[in-house]
Amino acid sequence: MPAIVIVGAQWGDEGKGKATDALGAHVDYVVKFNGGNNAGHTVVVGGEKYALHLLPSGILTPDVVPVIGNGVVIDLKVLFGEIDALTARGIDCSRLLVSANAHLIPGYNRTLDRVTERFLGKRRIGTTGRGIGPTYADKMNRIGLRVQDLLDEHILQQKVEGALDQKNHLLVKVYNRRAISVEETVEDLMSYAERMRPMIADTAKVLVDALDGGRTVLFEAGQATQLDVDHGNYPFVTSSNATSGGACTGSGVPPTRIDTVVAVAKAYATRVGEGPFPTELFDADGERLRRVGGEFGTTTGRPRRCGWYDAPVVRYATRINGLTDLVLTKLDVLTGVEQLPVCVAYDVDGVRQEDIPLTQSDFHHAKPVYEYFDGWTEDLAGIRSFEDLPKNAQRYVLALEEMAGVRISA
Ligand code: IMP
Repeated sequence: MPAIVIVGAQWGDEGKGKATDALGAHVDYVVKFNGGNNAGHTVVVGGEKYALHLLPSGILTPDVVPVIGNGVVIDLKVLFGEIDALTARGIDCSRLLVSANAHLIPGYNRTLDRVTERFLGKRRIGTTGRGIGPTYADKMNRIGLRVQDLLDEHILQQKVEGALDQKNHLLVKVYNRRAISVEETVEDLMSYAERMRPMIADTAKVLVDALDGGRTVLFEAGQATQLDVDHGNYPFVTSSNATSGGACTGSGVPPTRIDTVVAVAKAYATRVGEGPFPTELFDADGERLRRVGGEFGTTTGRPRRCGWYDAPVVRYATRINGLTDLVLTKLDVLTGVEQLPVCVAYDVDGVRQEDIPLTQSDFHHAKPVYEYFDGWTEDLAGIRSFEDLPKNAQRYVLALEEMAGVRISA
């Protein structure tokens, strides 16, 4: 399995880090290919807990080369904050490689993310406020700043001037904020340039060379299928491609080199931020999932919205990502629920639909059609194989497998 992509099947926070770790020992490169420090996963290694937002999880495994691909947006303060914190705990971060073409999140885009959300009011997206959206917008608008610009201060200065020419009008005239200075922005970014220099690489070439040499490369998506800017519930999405296609555009490794695509799905569903969520629970059952599942955001600490498993959402992930395997997490959180509802289709204004509706309005109106499964009361802690699961848990997993249309491999 030389090139493996791991994605989220639902709305994020499915436990992709755990699945990555499980493969960790056999992997030579771990690549982050989309998003930025809007992501967050907690990894426990040797009893020590690490919260990572920007660094690929491979940073914790001594022989793995962690790579930040061209599709990522980087907040330099956060990057070096994480590197310094890990170094202080004895983790060697010197293997990290960063694409020269990855984009930088300048301070003004953090400001814009927050003021835009405030301005949107009721129509807000519920972003993480990290400047992700404005930075991807700049990339598409061709006024973005890239990692390689740190190698030429003169060019960086010109690019910041060009961007701020537009953005200061917006900040001052529309949002009533103070203008941001070119000098301060350039100075802030350049303060990281010398530390960044040795990490900057043509990562697309490094990765294809590695695959040619028979190495195993793991591509780790941030966010998840329903948050993908093209294939998620737009506009309540992040601003990058979190599906398997993003692994190619976000790293420079062509689709013909990908062998395996694994999605991680929770045994129920959660979401942070705004947007449609047909199986969302507003009652004691939702509270219970949040409490037992510890469903609070790693990045913002926000309580996650919780609901029952939505089979059409995962089946959609199978198709969009071309899944070869599905990993199911947090089955243990469902222990003790007498009857487990699974959404098998939607009722959209009185019409049954098996798949995610075509239009945003219909998805907003979609009501779950539930099928019920008998629950179990046994504690699942310590169970490592399917055969050891209680019979009702086995039935639940097999039903989800059939509905997803892909093998559940862990
Ligand atoms: P942004 O990525 O900060 O622009 O936020 C856009 C949407 O994606 C919001 O609904 C966020 O809550 C959501 N989001 C971004 N990153 C994550 C993540 O890692 N897990 C879950 N939701 C996320």
